[in-house]
Parts: sequence; structure tokens; C-alpha cells
Amino acid sequence: AGNVGATTAQRIHQLGYADVVLVDIVDDLPQGKALDMAESGPVIGSDASITGSNGYEETAKSDLVIITAGIARKPGMSRDDLLITNMNIVGSVTREVVKYSPDCLIIVVSNPLDAMCHHAFEVSGLPRNRVFGMAGVLDTARFRTFIAQELDVSVEDVQAYVLGGHGDDMVPLVRYTTVGGIPISELLASDVVDRLVKRARQGGGEIVALLKAGSAYYAPSASITQMAEAVLLEKNRILPACVYLEGEYGISGVSVGVPVKLGAHGIEQVIEISLEDAEQAMLNKSANSVRELIEVMHAHQNRTS
Ligand code: 2OP
Repeated sequence: AGNVGATTAQRIHQLGYADVVLVDIVDDLPQGKALDMAESGPVIGSDASITGSNGYEETAKSDLVIITAGIARKPGMSRDDLLITNMNIVGSVTREVVKYSPDCLIIVVSNPLDAMCHHAFEVSGLPRNRVFGMAGVLDTARFRTFIAQELDVSVEDVQAYVLGGHGDDMVPLVRYTTVGGIPISELLASDVVDRLVKRARQGGGEIVALLKAGSAYYAPSASITQMAEAVLLEKNRILPACVYLEGEYGISGVSVGVPVKLGAHGIEQVIEISLEDAEQAMLNKSANSVRELIEVMHAHQNRTS
């Protein structure tokens, strides 16, 4: 029931096609926020139920679970600084989730995103199509926003792809970025594109620096909701998402952002697009950063088990 979780719950409740349970360890907070949202139902025209709980019983038999639990960044912190604290939180949440909803799909949102997604995948014991992470939609949304502002065009006409980990070495695929179907290279000089790429990469930190306490939640919750919608409405959307790779893009044993088809069964397909050498090198670098975090987590688990 923190900022990302509660805002996501609000968006999904407002859409009206899923009943929502908001879970938090803080006494009365999820109950209070859920009741407040339920009481908005008559005004916004949503008959979906929304309740709050401090435990997981009420979430039993969920179709979809969104994990946003964890501490958020403070100014000056990187997402990686959250690693071990959030690993413990995400691990215990995942165990509870799977105990009560063994058939669910899980969208992981906690940071550092790719490492937390990987950890939830390992802890859950679920197949990889059912545990995936939200970051690519958010990173792409930021990139699309900056391009639309630069060109003074509708955000709806900007299509882009940001792959790789949700970190400062994420991989905006400039070659696959178009405005109304026109390649971005036809519309913007390369130094301008480079500036927008840089701003997208640092987009999360830009918000943290402005908010001072806590990190972004409006664009993150919108991005999660788009993924939830793809699952709940069986839309088979093509979106970037973090998923455990088994050889795609030459990468194995690491969860990292790639284009996927997202539908009723979660990751219906990992989509492999051809990358130029420089793009592949950037994706490898990004995957290697995630791999380093996974190794730190494994070492920590071995020490404490
Ligand atoms: C972001 O990029 C908090 O990682 C999140 O805003």
C-alpha cells in the first residue's frame, strides 16, 4: 500500500474488471486506503471490490499478483543499493503469494528490478512465463515522453523500445524508435537523440532528486496497469518486460528486459529481434550488470543459509 502499490490498485480498481486486495505490513494502512478507494466506486462507476489486509489469506486464488514491496531510493542512492534489503522482502512476499495463489502470475516491480524479478522467479518455483518484471514499459514511456516533447507531437505517435536492465545502462533501441512510423533519425539530429537517451536512462533518478523522499509512482503505476491489462484482457500486447532468458539474445540464466508477447498466460513468447553489434554489446553489458547482482544475492543466501 505504498505509493506504487496503492496508485496501481487505484488504477486497476477504476478500470473495474478485477477485484483488488491491497496488502501491506503496516497496520490499518491497506484497509484505510482500500476503503477510501472503494468509496470512490459510486462516483467513478466501478463495482470492483477493493479490500486491504495485513496478511495473505485474503489474496488466496489470485490470478495476478503485483509485488511492489520494498524500500525506495533516497536521493544519491542507486537502485542497486537496495539489493539485500529488498531481496529479503521480495523473497518472503513471494513465498506467501505462491502459498495462497499457486496458479497466479506475478509482476515484480520492486527494485533493483531485474534482480528482484530474478529472485522472485527462483523463490516461486513457477515457470518463467509466470514471473516477469515491469520496467521496460516505464523506461520506454519516459523515452517516448521526451521525444514527443522535443518534436511537439502527440505521445501516442511515438513508438520506442528500451531493452536491458532497469538501470543506468538500459538500452534504448534508437533504430526501432519511430514517430508516426517515421524513423527518429529522419526527424532529430543524433546529438539530440543522444541527449534524450541519456535523460531516459536517468529518468528514475531525475524524479527521486525532485521528490527528495521516495521515487516515482504515477508513470510506474500506469506502466504496471498496462501490463496487468494485457494479462487480464488476454490482449497479447507486444511490450518490453523483464523475463528469465534461456538463450534468447545469446543470454542465459539472467532475467533482463526484452520484447515479449504478453497475454493470458503471462509471457506468451520472448520476441527476438535482430540487433546490431553495438546494440548487442549494450544488452550484454546490461545483462552482465544484472548477473553481478544475482551473484551478490546468491553469495548472501549461501552465507545466511
Ligand atoms: C523508477 O525508475 C523507481 O525505478 C523506479 O522511477
